[in-house]
Amino acid sequence: MKTKNLVIIVVAVLLVVIGGAFVLAANSGNSEKMSSDESSSSTSKSDDSAASTSNSNNNAVSAATVNIKDYAFGPMQTKIKVGETVTFTNMDDVHHNVIADKESADAPNGPLLAKGESYKFTFTKAGSFAYHCGPHPYMHGTVVVE
Ligand code: CU
Repeated sequence: MKTKNLVIIVVAVLLVVIGGAFVLAANSGNSEKMSSDESSSSTSKSDDSAASTSNSNNNAVSAATVNIKDYAFGPMQTKIKVGETVTFTNMDDVHHNVIADKESADAPNGPLLAKGESYKFTFTKAGSFAYHCGPHPYMHGTVVVE
């Protein structure tokens, strides 16, 4: 009896870990090689805070958009909630990217985007994330995650 319960628990934990790895891999695309390393830690971190706060509003799909145009991020400040995704789209002829000022697994670090290309990043931690463009460090923006 006890060993049967243990097997069920182990299988459940494995499913959660594998599921988290797939979600992270889908979000990060092919630009990041370390997504499997981050998956196990970030899934456990985000569980507690999300469960306690998300009872009142069940907006399952919520996304913010930042357009990169004329060497600027618009809007410069984006406010989202934990777990939401921001899509950065380059409208300029020159290449831009989205790099967090403070390097972290919880902050964006995107590839160079050609005109019309997009980079999506899902924020799983609350905080203020300042970012810039790698080739043009004077281009600034902030995502505030509540
Ligand atoms: Cu740029």
